[in-house]
Amino acid sequence: MDARILDGNAIRDRVLAELASEIAGSARQGVVPGLAAVLVGDDPASRIYVRNKIRACNRIGAFSETIRLPAKTSTAELLALVQELNGRDDIDGILVQLPLPRDVDAQQVLCSVDPEKDVDGFHPVNVGRLASGQPGMVPCTPRGLIEILKRSAIPIKGRHAVIVGRSNIVGKPAAMLLLAEHATVTICHSRTRDLPAVCRRADILVAALGRPAMLTRKYIREGAVVLDVGISRLRDEAEVGRLLAHAPNRLARFRKTGSALVGDVHPGHVREVASAFTPVPGGVGPLTIAMLMSNTLEAAKRRRQPSYDATAFP
Ligand code: GUN
Repeated sequence: MDARILDGNAIRDRVLAELASEIAGSARQGVVPGLAAVLVGDDPASRIYVRNKIRACNRIGAFSETIRLPAKTSTAELLALVQELNGRDDIDGILVQLPLPRDVDAQQVLCSVDPEKDVDGFHPVNVGRLASGQPGMVPCTPRGLIEILKRSAIPIKGRHAVIVGRSNIVGKPAAMLLLAEHATVTICHSRTRDLPAVCRRADILVAALGRPAMLTRKYIREGAVVLDVGISRLRDEAEVGRLLAHAPNRLARFRKTGSALVGDVHPGHVREVASAFTPVPGGVGPLTIAMLMSNTLEAAKRRRQPSYDATAFP
Protein backbone atom coordinates (compact mmCIF):
# COMPACT_ATOMS: atom_id res chain seq x y z
CA MET A 1 0.00 0.00 0.00
CA ASP A 2 1.19 3.51 -0.84
CA ALA A 3 0.61 5.20 2.51
CA ARG A 4 -0.31 8.86 2.72
CA ILE A 5 2.23 10.94 4.62
CA LEU A 6 0.59 13.30 7.13
CA ASP A 7 2.90 16.29 6.77
CA GLY A 8 3.13 17.96 10.20
CA ASN A 9 5.26 20.83 8.94
CA ALA A 10 2.64 21.83 6.37
CA ILE A 11 -0.19 21.62 8.92
CA ARG A 12 1.87 23.61 11.44
CA ASP A 13 2.47 26.32 8.83
CA ARG A 14 -1.26 26.65 8.19
CA VAL A 15 -2.04 26.81 11.94
CA LEU A 16 0.67 29.41 12.61
CA ALA A 17 -0.50 31.54 9.67
CA GLU A 18 -4.05 31.54 11.09
CA LEU A 19 -2.76 32.46 14.56
CA ALA A 20 -0.55 35.21 13.15
CA SER A 21 -3.47 36.78 11.35
CA GLU A 22 -5.63 36.61 14.50
CA ILE A 23 -2.86 38.15 16.62
CA ALA A 24 -2.32 40.92 14.07
CA GLY A 25 -5.98 41.80 14.63
CA SER A 26 -5.85 41.65 18.43
CA ALA A 27 -2.56 43.62 18.50
CA ARG A 28 -4.39 46.54 16.85
CA GLN A 29 -6.58 46.60 19.97
CA GLY A 30 -3.50 46.48 22.17
CA VAL A 31 -3.66 42.76 23.07
CA VAL A 32 -0.42 40.86 22.35
CA PRO A 33 -0.31 37.34 23.85
CA GLY A 34 2.79 36.69 25.94
CA LEU A 35 4.56 33.42 26.76
CA ALA A 36 7.22 32.92 29.45
CA ALA A 37 9.44 29.85 28.99
CA VAL A 38 11.40 28.67 32.02
CA LEU A 39 14.47 26.57 31.23
CA VAL A 40 16.40 25.08 34.15
CA GLY A 41 19.83 23.52 33.57
CA ASP A 42 21.46 22.81 30.24
CA ASP A 43 19.81 19.70 28.82
CA PRO A 44 20.63 20.04 25.08
CA ALA A 45 17.27 18.68 23.87
CA SER A 46 15.34 21.02 26.19
CA ARG A 47 17.38 23.98 24.94
CA ILE A 48 16.41 23.17 21.35
CA TYR A 49 12.73 22.67 22.25
CA VAL A 50 12.57 26.02 24.07
CA ARG A 51 14.40 27.79 21.25
CA ASN A 52 11.86 26.43 18.74
CA LYS A 53 8.95 27.54 20.94
CA ILE A 54 10.35 31.09 21.15
CA ARG A 55 10.90 31.14 17.37
CA ALA A 56 7.26 30.19 16.87
CA CYS A 57 6.21 33.09 19.14
CA ASN A 58 8.24 35.46 16.99
CA ARG A 59 6.70 34.01 13.86
CA ILE A 60 3.11 34.66 14.96
CA GLY A 61 3.80 38.05 16.56
CA ALA A 62 3.43 36.95 20.19
CA PHE A 63 5.58 38.36 22.99
CA SER A 64 7.96 35.88 24.60
CA GLU A 65 10.51 35.77 27.34
CA THR A 66 12.93 32.96 28.17
CA ILE A 67 14.13 32.65 31.75
CA ARG A 68 17.26 30.49 31.96
CA LEU A 69 18.27 29.23 35.39
CA PRO A 70 21.23 27.12 36.55
CA ALA A 71 20.75 23.38 37.21
CA LYS A 72 21.26 23.95 40.94
CA THR A 73 18.15 26.18 41.21
CA SER A 74 16.04 25.14 44.22
CA THR A 75 12.33 24.32 44.30
CA ALA A 76 11.73 27.42 46.44
CA GLU A 77 13.46 29.68 43.90
CA LEU A 78 11.37 28.21 41.07
CA LEU A 79 8.16 28.62 43.08
CA ALA A 80 9.03 32.29 43.66
CA LEU A 81 9.65 32.80 39.93
CA VAL A 82 6.35 31.15 38.97
CA GLN A 83 4.51 33.33 41.51
CA GLU A 84 6.01 36.41 39.90
CA LEU A 85 4.99 35.23 36.41
CA ASN A 86 1.49 34.37 37.67
CA GLY A 87 1.12 38.01 38.69
CA ARG A 88 2.45 39.63 35.50
CA ASP A 89 -0.17 41.13 33.25
CA ASP A 90 1.93 40.84 30.07
CA ILE A 91 2.33 37.06 30.49
CA ASP A 92 -0.61 34.87 29.41
CA GLY A 93 1.17 31.52 29.29
CA ILE A 94 3.83 29.97 31.52
CA LEU A 95 5.81 26.99 30.29
CA VAL A 96 8.22 25.20 32.62
CA GLN A 97 10.28 22.98 30.33
CA LEU A 98 10.54 19.37 31.51
CA PRO A 99 12.47 17.46 32.67
CA LEU A 100 13.45 19.57 35.67
CA PRO A 101 16.66 18.68 37.56
CA ARG A 102 16.27 15.68 39.88
CA ASP A 103 16.42 17.73 43.09
CA VAL A 104 13.52 19.96 42.08
CA ASP A 105 10.00 18.93 43.10
CA ALA A 106 8.53 19.10 39.59
CA GLN A 107 4.97 18.32 40.69
CA GLN A 108 5.01 21.17 43.21
CA VAL A 109 6.32 23.58 40.58
CA LEU A 110 3.73 22.55 37.97
CA CYS A 111 0.95 22.86 40.55
CA SER A 112 2.07 26.42 41.38
CA VAL A 113 1.36 27.67 37.84
CA ASP A 114 -1.91 29.62 37.65
CA PRO A 115 -4.28 27.16 35.87
CA GLU A 116 -5.41 29.99 33.57
CA LYS A 117 -1.78 30.46 32.42
CA ASP A 118 -0.99 26.72 32.29
CA VAL A 119 -0.50 26.48 28.50
CA ASP A 120 0.96 22.97 28.88
CA GLY A 121 -2.27 21.74 30.47
CA PHE A 122 -0.33 19.89 33.17
CA HIS A 123 -1.99 21.46 36.25
CA PRO A 124 -4.38 19.07 38.07
CA VAL A 125 -7.19 21.63 37.62
CA ASN A 126 -6.79 21.42 33.84
CA VAL A 127 -6.40 17.63 33.96
CA GLY A 128 -9.75 17.51 35.81
CA ARG A 129 -11.38 19.91 33.36
CA LEU A 130 -10.27 17.76 30.43
CA ALA A 131 -11.50 14.57 32.10
CA SER A 132 -14.90 16.14 32.85
CA GLY A 133 -15.38 17.91 29.51
CA GLN A 134 -15.06 21.49 30.77
CA PRO A 135 -13.18 24.29 28.99
CA GLY A 136 -9.54 24.34 30.07
CA MET A 137 -5.97 24.22 28.84
CA VAL A 138 -5.35 21.01 26.88
CA PRO A 139 -1.83 19.44 26.62
CA CYS A 140 -0.18 20.39 23.35
CA THR A 141 0.92 17.05 21.87
CA PRO A 142 -2.49 15.35 22.30
CA ARG A 143 -4.19 18.46 20.86
CA GLY A 144 -1.76 18.21 17.94
CA LEU A 145 -2.87 14.63 17.25
CA ILE A 146 -6.51 15.69 16.95
CA GLU A 147 -5.53 18.66 14.79
CA ILE A 148 -3.64 16.39 12.37
CA LEU A 149 -6.60 14.02 12.06
CA LYS A 150 -9.15 16.81 11.57
CA ARG A 151 -7.12 18.82 9.10
CA SER A 152 -6.39 15.64 7.15
CA ALA A 153 -10.15 14.83 7.04
CA ILE A 154 -9.58 11.50 8.81
CA PRO A 155 -12.76 10.46 10.64
CA ILE A 156 -12.49 9.79 14.39
CA LYS A 157 -16.13 9.18 15.41
CA GLY A 158 -16.83 5.49 15.95
CA ARG A 159 -13.25 4.48 15.12
CA HIS A 160 -11.16 2.33 17.43
CA ALA A 161 -8.15 4.31 18.66
CA VAL A 162 -5.40 2.32 20.38
CA ILE A 163 -2.86 4.37 22.34
CA VAL A 164 0.42 2.73 23.30
CA GLY A 165 1.76 4.62 26.34
CA ARG A 166 -0.01 5.93 29.44
CA SER A 167 1.97 9.07 30.28
CA ASN A 168 0.34 12.12 31.84
CA ILE A 169 1.72 14.29 29.02
CA VAL A 170 0.52 12.26 26.02
CA GLY A 171 -1.20 8.90 26.53
CA LYS A 172 -3.84 9.79 29.12
CA PRO A 173 -4.87 13.20 27.71
CA ALA A 174 -4.88 11.78 24.16
CA ALA A 175 -7.37 9.16 25.37
CA MET A 176 -9.63 11.89 26.81
CA LEU A 177 -9.56 13.94 23.60
CA LEU A 178 -10.22 10.93 21.36
CA LEU A 179 -13.13 9.92 23.62
CA ALA A 180 -14.52 13.45 23.36
CA GLU A 181 -14.38 13.00 19.57
CA HIS A 182 -16.44 9.79 19.98
CA ALA A 183 -13.68 7.27 19.28
CA THR A 184 -13.62 3.93 21.09
CA VAL A 185 -10.37 4.10 23.04
CA THR A 186 -7.94 1.48 24.33
CA ILE A 187 -4.84 2.49 26.30
CA CYS A 188 -1.98 -0.05 26.31
CA HIS A 189 1.35 -0.10 28.11
CA SER A 190 4.38 -2.25 28.79
CA ARG A 191 2.37 -4.82 30.76
CA THR A 192 -0.43 -5.23 28.21
CA ARG A 193 -0.83 -8.89 27.23
CA ASP A 194 -0.32 -9.66 23.53
CA LEU A 195 0.37 -6.04 22.59
CA PRO A 196 0.64 -6.74 18.83
CA ALA A 197 -2.86 -8.25 18.75
CA VAL A 198 -4.36 -5.29 20.65
CA CYS A 199 -2.58 -2.79 18.38
CA ARG A 200 -3.81 -4.62 15.28
CA ARG A 201 -7.39 -3.80 16.32
CA ALA A 202 -6.67 -0.08 15.85
CA ASP A 203 -8.18 2.06 13.11
CA ILE A 204 -6.07 4.85 14.64
CA LEU A 205 -2.83 3.76 16.33
CA VAL A 206 -1.05 6.29 18.57
CA ALA A 207 2.53 5.34 19.46
CA ALA A 208 3.77 7.17 22.55
CA LEU A 209 5.93 4.70 24.43
CA GLY A 210 9.41 6.12 23.87
CA ARG A 211 11.01 2.97 22.39
CA PRO A 212 12.63 3.58 18.99
CA ALA A 213 11.02 1.68 16.10
CA MET A 214 9.41 -0.84 18.45
CA LEU A 215 6.08 -1.01 16.62
CA THR A 216 6.88 -3.16 13.61
CA ARG A 217 4.62 -4.56 10.90
CA LYS A 218 2.95 -7.07 13.21
CA TYR A 219 1.50 -4.24 15.36
CA ILE A 220 -0.20 -2.39 12.49
CA ARG A 221 -3.45 -3.37 10.84
CA GLU A 222 -3.50 -3.06 7.06
CA GLY A 223 -4.98 0.37 6.32
CA ALA A 224 -4.65 1.81 9.85
CA VAL A 225 -3.82 5.48 10.47
CA VAL A 226 -0.62 5.68 12.54
CA LEU A 227 0.35 8.71 14.64
CA ASP A 228 3.92 8.47 15.96
CA VAL A 229 4.71 10.65 18.98
CA GLY A 230 8.12 9.07 19.67
CA ILE A 231 11.39 10.75 18.84
CA SER A 232 14.75 9.10 19.51
CA ARG A 233 18.19 9.96 18.20
CA LEU A 234 20.04 6.87 16.95
CA ARG A 235 23.80 6.69 16.31
CA ASP A 236 24.37 2.98 15.66
CA GLU A 237 25.20 2.52 11.99
CA ALA A 238 23.88 -1.03 11.67
CA GLU A 239 20.60 -0.16 13.39
CA VAL A 240 20.05 2.99 11.32
CA GLY A 241 20.97 1.07 8.16
CA ARG A 242 18.27 -1.50 8.94
CA LEU A 243 15.56 1.01 9.84
CA LEU A 244 16.17 3.45 6.99
CA ALA A 245 16.99 0.96 4.22
CA HIS A 246 14.00 2.37 2.28
CA ALA A 247 15.28 5.99 2.50
CA PRO A 248 18.63 6.50 0.75
CA ASN A 249 18.52 10.29 1.28
CA ARG A 250 18.15 9.87 5.01
CA LEU A 251 20.93 7.28 5.08
CA ALA A 252 23.21 9.71 3.25
CA ARG A 253 22.39 12.40 5.83
CA PHE A 254 23.14 9.93 8.63
CA ARG A 255 26.58 9.25 7.14
CA LYS A 256 27.24 13.00 7.17
CA THR A 257 25.90 13.88 10.61
CA GLY A 258 26.37 10.61 12.53
CA SER A 259 22.82 10.49 13.87
CA ALA A 260 19.24 9.98 12.73
CA LEU A 261 15.85 10.61 14.36
CA VAL A 262 13.29 7.84 14.47
CA GLY A 263 9.92 7.46 16.14
CA ASP A 264 8.34 4.59 18.04
CA VAL A 265 7.08 3.01 14.81
CA HIS A 266 9.32 1.16 12.35
CA PRO A 267 9.71 3.74 9.54
CA GLY A 268 10.06 1.15 6.78
CA HIS A 269 7.17 -1.07 7.86
CA VAL A 270 4.60 1.68 8.52
CA ARG A 271 4.67 2.96 4.95
CA GLU A 272 3.97 -0.55 3.65
CA VAL A 273 1.04 -1.35 5.95
CA ALA A 274 -0.71 1.87 7.09
CA SER A 275 -3.09 3.96 4.96
CA ALA A 276 -1.65 7.17 6.45
CA PHE A 277 1.07 7.99 8.97
CA THR A 278 2.99 10.84 10.56
CA PRO A 279 6.71 10.72 9.72
CA VAL A 280 9.50 11.31 12.25
CA PRO A 281 10.78 13.97 12.08
CA GLY A 282 8.15 16.27 10.59
CA GLY A 283 4.93 14.69 11.88
CA VAL A 284 3.55 15.20 15.37
CA GLY A 285 6.46 17.35 16.69
CA PRO A 286 5.69 20.52 14.69
CA LEU A 287 2.06 20.39 15.84
CA THR A 288 3.08 20.36 19.52
CA ILE A 289 4.61 23.80 19.08
CA ALA A 290 1.70 25.07 16.99
CA MET A 291 -0.74 23.97 19.72
CA LEU A 292 1.37 25.71 22.36
CA MET A 293 0.96 28.91 20.38
CA SER A 294 -2.76 28.28 20.04
CA ASN A 295 -3.05 27.67 23.81
CA THR A 296 -1.17 30.92 24.51
CA LEU A 297 -3.60 32.89 22.34
CA GLU A 298 -6.52 31.04 23.92
CA ALA A 299 -5.21 31.90 27.43
CA ALA A 300 -4.85 35.56 26.40
CA LYS A 301 -8.41 35.70 25.11
CA ARG A 302 -9.85 34.02 28.21
CA ARG A 303 -7.93 36.29 30.58
CA ARG A 304 -8.18 39.58 28.73
CA GLN A 305 -11.53 39.43 26.95
CA PRO A 306 -14.21 38.97 29.61
CA SER A 307 -16.87 38.34 26.94
CA TYR A 308 -14.84 35.55 25.29
CA ASP A 309 -16.76 32.26 25.33
CA ALA A 310 -14.29 29.39 25.69
CA THR A 311 -15.24 26.10 24.09
CA ALA A 312 -14.60 22.80 25.82
CA PHE A 313 -11.92 21.69 23.36
CA PRO A 314 -10.28 24.46 21.37
N1 GUN B 1 9.24 18.26 27.73
C1 GUN B 1 8.87 17.38 26.77
N2 GUN B 1 7.64 17.69 26.28
C2 GUN B 1 7.22 18.79 26.96
C3 GUN B 1 6.05 19.58 26.89
O1 GUN B 1 5.12 19.34 26.11
N3 GUN B 1 6.03 20.63 27.74
C4 GUN B 1 7.02 20.92 28.62
N4 GUN B 1 6.87 21.96 29.44
N5 GUN B 1 8.12 20.19 28.69
C5 GUN B 1 8.23 19.14 27.86
